Amino acid sequence: MILVTGATGTVGRALIDALAPTGEPVRAMTRRPDSAALPAHVEVVAGDLDDPDSLTDAVRDVDRVFLVSTGPDGPVQDRNLATAAAKAGAARIVKLSTLSVGDHRIDDPITRWHRAGEDAVLDGGVPATFMRPTGFMSNALTWARTIAAQDTVFHPYADGRVSLIDPRDIAAATATVLTQPGHEGQAYPLCGPEALGPADEVAALAEVLGRPLRYVEVSPEAAHRAMTEHGMPAELADAVVAKGATTLQPGVAGPDDELRRLIATAPRTFREWARDHVGAFVR
Ligand SMILES: NC(=O)c1ccc[n+]([C@@H]2O[C@H](COP(=O)([O-])OP(=O)(O)OC[C@H]3O[C@@H](n4cnc5c(N)ncnc54)[C@H](OP(=O)(O)O)[C@@H]3O)[C@@H](O)[C@H]2O)c1
Repeated sequence: MILVTGATGTVGRALIDALAPTGEPVRAMTRRPDSAALPAHVEVVAGDLDDPDSLTDAVRDVDRVFLVSTGPDGPVQDRNLATAAAKAGAARIVKLSTLSVGDHRIDDPITRWHRAGEDAVLDGGVPATFMRPTGFMSNALTWARTIAAQDTVFHPYADGRVSLIDPRDIAAATATVLTQPGHEGQAYPLCGPEALGPADEVAALAEVLGRPLRYVEVSPEAAHRAMTEHGMPAELADAVVAKGATTLQPGVAGPDDELRRLIATAPRTFREWARDHVGAFVR
């Protein structure tokens, strides 16, 4: 039995689809089972990574765990699940981490949370694999509102470049790691096929949508303000802005060789991702 946490989120939900053809039994964890709308073939379990007692049912009889923690409490969440998984006798944990953990030049809050989280998982003693993806293509969904309203994308760091990755490719790589032997003790840097800046992404979206879009570089402060005005806690907005600044550093635009090896096919391009999600940007 494979436990998938973050099962209603971007990568966890894609992982459920990626595991379906393998026939492996999957248990999907969520804090809100009644509204999770998960596929009928998975067992749904209630669990909250912030509440260790709630994890007992989730890990029962599980031999492999996919761990998605989020935000500043991520390291505690990682520790809670790693401890529960060890008690339940799980054989492997695969944690969704972030690329920059492996780059000592980068030290923003999100990177620190994942570094501490990886250490917490190792402390639990269950053999672990760390999936370290770069920025997700799906982050562009946060632009849907201003694209629909103004045909415009407001985003800082015009000169930043990221080898953006399709979350479905992270899921495919994770399915390989969960279902094939020999990945314990590994940390995989996962980059997509092309290093893109925000203007490149906006150009690809315009092409797919068939109408011109404008890219406007805004200050990090303005981006922070927009995020908190739309309900993001200030600490998280600080972290997102600091993570954005790392796109100006070398190393964030890495090669896609590890991803290619794990998914045994060509990684998806941003244009492919945009074509498959065009409905999210239509007025
Ligand atoms: N976006 C990027 O560019 C990027 C790049 C590299 C790494 N990452 C990492 O990817 C992770 C996020 O993955 P994602 O985008 O797939 O997730 P997501 O779409 O943001 O969804 C978050 C998931 O976490 C679950 N969750 C939140 N709090 C929880 C709690 N206390 N207990 C149990 N489950 C909880 C939610 O489930 P319920 O609400 O159903 O309980 C949901 O399924 C983060 O660790 C992030 O740092 C992101």
